Amino acid sequence: MSSPTLTPDALIPSLLASAESLAPQVIAWRRHLHRHPELSFEEHATAQYVYDVLVALPGLELSRPTATSVVARLRGALPGRTIAVRADMDALPIHEENDTPYRSTKPGVMHACGHDGHTSILLGLATVLAAARDRLHGEVRFIFQHAEELSPGGADALVDAGVMDGVDDVIGLHLWSSMPVGHIGLVAGPAMAAPDTFQCTITGRGGHAALPHDTIDPIAIGAQVVSALQQIVSRQVDPLEPAVLSVTQFIAGTAFNVIPNSAYLSGTVRTFDATLRRQIPERMDRLIRGICDGFGATCEFTYELGYRPVVNDAALTARLADLVSRTFGEHVLTPLRPVMGGEDFSAYQQRAPGVFAFVGAGNVARGITAAHHHPRFDIDEASLDVGLRYLVAATVELLGG
Ligand code: NI
Repeated sequence: MSSPTLTPDALIPSLLASAESLAPQVIAWRRHLHRHPELSFEEHATAQYVYDVLVALPGLELSRPTATSVVARLRGALPGRTIAVRADMDALPIHEENDTPYRSTKPGVMHACGHDGHTSILLGLATVLAAARDRLHGEVRFIFQHAEELSPGGADALVDAGVMDGVDDVIGLHLWSSMPVGHIGLVAGPAMAAPDTFQCTITGRGGHAALPHDTIDPIAIGAQVVSALQQIVSRQVDPLEPAVLSVTQFIAGTAFNVIPNSAYLSGTVRTFDATLRRQIPERMDRLIRGICDGFGATCEFTYELGYRPVVNDAALTARLADLVSRTFGEHVLTPLRPVMGGEDFSAYQQRAPGVFAFVGAGNVARGITAAHHHPRFDIDEASLDVGLRYLVAATVELLGG
């Protein structure tokens, strides 16, 4: 028995109805994962949970490219394109302060970025599409990625393992608590910054606080370094080019009457432009060395490149924006400005055109407003249904027909 070939426009409404009826299950998955968070590279129980859900679905070919990731392939009955859809699964070293029935059961570990939701949404997508295999064109690759939160991230390892081989387009999403639930945000072009990190140890000469002339004070020098670094973005970068340089740690000293030997600084730099990304560490190095030299101190400066910036394919973004407006209504589509946070979704975009979407998860009326990575972070679970329906529509649209 063969099913009639359906165009995406005909298939999407019936699959959206299946997605909607799956909403309680998606919430149940999310609550289980939220109760049992695991840190980056340690997602053993999470990956097993995902595997166990997937293995019960019809027609999926499962693999475990790394110890804590899972990839499922669904080959549709009809010829077509190959679309990869990615979710991240890791939690953060944060102690949850919410008092919900599904709060974290692990002290000091919490899904404070919504990755529990991403994983559940992708399980929902696999469930909906696996049941429709006989009507699907092409292949869908479901990538359950480990370790988004911790450099070097999990995405590069999965790309190296071949998960993007033969993929035509890749999509993913992030639940976003600063955007109201019910909205979907798409940014064409640069969407998330390259998050680089730096460390600097300034070594002077410690001594008695009352005899500063006998010391080389690394705190006073470090203060000059922090001030001078602020001038890079404000005075040396084109004001129309996004860049952030934040010093986030300044550690020195043990007592009020002792000038310490050394001071430790660290922080992060966020950029989109490749040239600027190369220039900023050169300028930092020159400035830090110059200041330390001038005061007779020495310094050790290290700079580590983080993920590449997330750059959404312009044509693909326009196509999905149009799809969102047509399928869910124009009011759902929310134009967004790029954000300076980073994401290793960018690794997949090196191999195929990709779009990373933001799905509103905040709800001011219900008090769901905490920022990502905050101990009171939560999502409005209605966002799971929005995210799932978005991925169902987008995947089927991109598979073609
Ligand atoms: Ni995140």
